[in-house]
Amino acid sequence: MSEMYSASAAKGLAAYQHNKDALLLAIESSCDETAASVLRGDREVLSMSVYTQIPLHRKFGGVVPELASRSHVEKIGEVVNYALESAKVTIDDISAIAVTCGPGLVGALLVGVSYAKGLAFAKGLPLIGVNHLAGHIAANYLTYPDLKPPFMCLVASGGHSHIIKVEDYHKFTLLGRTRDDAAGEAFDKVARALGLPYPGGPELEKLAREGDPNKYPFHSALNQSIEESDFSFSGIKTAVVNLLHNAEQKGESLDPADIAASFQRAVCDALTMKSVHAAKAHGMDTLALAGGVSANKALRGALEAECRRQGVRFCCPDFRFCTDNAAMIACAGHYGLMAGQLSGLELNAVPNLALC
Ligand SMILES: Nc1ncnc2c1ncn2[C@@H]1O[C@H](COP(=O)(O)OP(=O)(O)OP(=O)(O)O)[C@@H](O)[C@H]1O
Ligand SMILES: [Mg+2]
Repeated sequence: MSEMYSASAAKGLAAYQHNKDALLLAIESSCDETAASVLRGDREVLSMSVYTQIPLHRKFGGVVPELASRSHVEKIGEVVNYALESAKVTIDDISAIAVTCGPGLVGALLVGVSYAKGLAFAKGLPLIGVNHLAGHIAANYLTYPDLKPPFMCLVASGGHSHIIKVEDYHKFTLLGRTRDDAAGEAFDKVARALGLPYPGGPELEKLAREGDPNKYPFHSALNQSIEESDFSFSGIKTAVVNLLHNAEQKGESLDPADIAASFQRAVCDALTMKSVHAAKAHGMDTLALAGGVSANKALRGALEAECRRQGVRFCCPDFRFCTDNAAMIACAGHYGLMAGQLSGLELNAVPNLALC
């Protein structure tokens, strides 16, 4: 059985590589979004379907893995069908399947991986497992038709803060990373300390608009060293929490908008300074931003201004491609298939899958 599948998938891969209008179906279920998308060729998104579990997890203040897996199981069929219908195609029009296989929550990933393997096997289609971070980076290809590697990329998301040199579509070099909390994680934790609902990033951004970003200097030595590519965000988060506790003990009231604005500024300054420096130091003329935190307008603005000042092109994904979606997985999957990468039916979920 599996030999018959392998032969069919290999034939399908060759056909996919030779048809520039081939359709690819992608599935993403690494965390709290069940998503599917149909892509034509390399960068034309025909449909995107996303079911978000945020309301489900909100009352717990964060993602509950068991609930996430169950919800993916309940919704994945509907989400995939909706992506096919809104692209005005059927599964018989699809030439290849891509699925996020890590990093992420193992139970959540397994739902997408199992569903994708089932579809690929039933239809004899080529299957590719995609690294979720390669997907976030590929969101930039969907936004800029002319963007090609090499370029520098800052990935700032719920689980990662990486400075990555994108050497080629599927070749990456990690230059810097957070030593503790990811940027999105720090946004979520500080938002929680300020009493804002989950996910805190967008809520904190809204509150910060009313505040003074210069009120509290939340600095850290590591973040201020431009030569050092690693970040640290847990110290800034602790400084915010200590400030709130001290004020509470003294019966003082602080303006939460000033705290939000000062925290956001400290995070944006560190991300901006180090990533633009890395781009210049490695001779890259382009810096791209990726991951959920790329939806933050203060960060986009700070990077854009610094890139302009230093003569670097700045790219960031269209807002619909910033947080988890399957179009970005489709695009990364496409480039993997074009490079001859194929996953067999032994494809598994790898919760700590490394990009490089
Ligand atoms: N406007 C915003 N400002 C700041 N943070 C934001 C904003 N919008 C989303 N985020 C943050 O982005 C994160 C979600 O991004 P994403 O969905 O890429 O994370 P993830 O998939 O859970 O993690 P990873 O991609 O690292 O596996 C959350 O931490 C959220 O608070
Ligand atoms: Mg993500």
